[in-house]
Formats: sequence, C-alpha cells, structure tokens
Amino acid sequence: REIRELKEYLKIERIKAAKDRKFPKTGLVPTMGFLHEGHASLLQRARQDNEIVVLSIFVNPIQFGPNEDFDRYPRDEDKDLALAEREGVDAVFLPSVEEMYPHPTATKIKVEGLTERLCGASRPGHFDGVTTVVGKLLHIVQPTNAYFGQKDAQQAAVIAQMVQDLNFDVEIIPCPIIRESDGVALSSRNVYLSAEQREAAKVLSRSLQKLQSGVEAGESITAGEALKALTEAIQAEPQAVIDYVEIVHYPRLNPVEESTILKDAEEPVLVALAVKFGTTRLIDNVILMKK
Ligand code: PAJ
Repeated sequence: REIRELKEYLKIERIKAAKDRKFPKTGLVPTMGFLHEGHASLLQRARQDNEIVVLSIFVNPIQFGPNEDFDRYPRDEDKDLALAEREGVDAVFLPSVEEMYPHPTATKIKVEGLTERLCGASRPGHFDGVTTVVGKLLHIVQPTNAYFGQKDAQQAAVIAQMVQDLNFDVEIIPCPIIRESDGVALSSRNVYLSAEQREAAKVLSRSLQKLQSGVEAGESITAGEALKALTEAIQAEPQAVIDYVEIVHYPRLNPVEESTILKDAEEPVLVALAVKFGTTRLIDNVILMKK
C-alpha cells in the first residue's frame, strides 16, 4: 500500500537477481480495480513477458470530472486480490489517495493535441489525470514493459506519446479488447447497467463489428458512409444517447476525410464511439488496417 514498501520489494528482487548476473524484466499493469477478464488478459501477457509482474489498483481521483463517477466507482478488493493470485502476479500495489497525492500537487503531465479529441473533448482534463498518474506509477515501478488495453485506444496512444516525448525507459505494450460472448466489451462500468441497458449496449459492438467485417470483406464504404451507418444504427436503439462517433487515423488521431474509402486507407483507422445508456457512458472501438 505504500510507495516505500513497493520500491523496497523491487530493490530486493533486483539485487537478488543481480547476484546471479540476471536482469529481471518487470511488467506493470496499471488498473483502477474491479478486475475482469480484460484486465486478466493484460496480466497474462505481462506474466509471459516478465520475471516480475506488478499490478496497480488505484481509482485515480484526478482523472474524474466533478460530475463523474469517482465516488461510486465499483470496488472489490478481495475479488481483485483473488484474480491477481490466479494470474500469478508478484506484487499488488494498492495505494490510498493520500499516498499518491500527499499534498496539493502542483505538477501535471499534459500531452497536447491527442488529448483534445474524442474522449478528451467530452472529458476535459481527464487525460492529464491519466498521464500524471501513469507517469508517477512508471517512476515508482520503473518497469521494462507496461500494458494497456486497446479498449481505451486513445489512452494507449496518449501514453505512448508521453513515453516517447519524456524519454520514459519503458516499452508500452498494447493489448486487444476482450469481449463478452455477445460482443459487449468488458468494462468495470458494465455493472452500472440495468438488464435492459445491458441488452441495448450490444448495439455498439454489433454495429462496429458489422463495419469491420464489411471492410475486411472488401466493401468500398467511405468514412462518411460508415459514420452515417453507425450513427443511425445506434440512434435506432432508444436507450442509447451518442456522445461521439468518430473515424480517425491511429495512433495520430487526425481525422479521416469523409470521402476516404476505408479499405484503402494507408494508415490504420480507428473507429471509436462513446455512448450513454442512462448515466453510464460506454466506449468501444475497432481498428481497421489495410490488407
Ligand atoms: P481501467 O479502466 O481499470 O483499465 C485498466 C487497463 O485495462 C487499461 O489499459 C484498459 O484499457 C484495460 N482494459 C479495460 N477493459 C478492457 C477490455 N475489455 N479488454 C482489454 N483491456 C481492457 O484505464 C484505466 O483503468 C486508468 O485510466 C489507468 C490507466 C489505470 C490510469 O488510472
């Protein structure tokens, strides 16, 4: 729970290994807890790649807006620790808010440009909170590798940019989206959904996957047509209220022109959306690559 404890643990492990002339790789998986199989997939990848696996669980207040769900964000420490055990995690770091932010902080990490679009436009300041806490975690753990899900594709791009710009000595490893059997992307926030909203939420993955399979099968759909089709499919679902549907290049996040035929785009294309079901905001995306 304390930064000092975690650093001490890592130091001892690293000294022990150095005695055998070994240089253990450390993998960090940062999370906000209430773990599910999406988080587990990152831990599995980290376990494969590293000698030491560190999981952090911290609901980071500075990445939540004043009217967002910080206070009611779901928590279940016992269940999270059981999942960590199952995945063979070596150390779980569970700091308190006071441990991470002991006094009013004056320093933030801000990635410009990339953070102004998509989720950054609807959640001002959100990504500054994310990069600041991830920067702190990277400094505390000094991992060889850090793992991020493509479920939050913009977050992964922003963090990769930060690491490049500020010379963090870490490899950022993006990991694929894990979905329920009906296609809905796993998210800690899915517990907020009523049975009816959960059913309605299927429209997101269904419409994204329809677009993806069409493009992969060689359909000549343009970005403009794809946006229209997605928007109409989601609007046809009475429970769903669109925050945004956007088609941008990945990882630069610059807009794709409406007339671009998606299957011919030279750079990977991110089709990303954020949709509210009642008060719960869900995000999902697919990345399309030229064959
Ligand atoms: P959290 O939402 O808990 O997610 C932690 C990590 O799990 C992120 O990298 C996220 O992309 C990944 N993840 C979540 N759902 C996933 C799914 N269905 N498939 C694959 N990966 C998934 O993202 C955060 O926490 C925070 O912003 C954090 C990076 C920890 C900074 O506070």
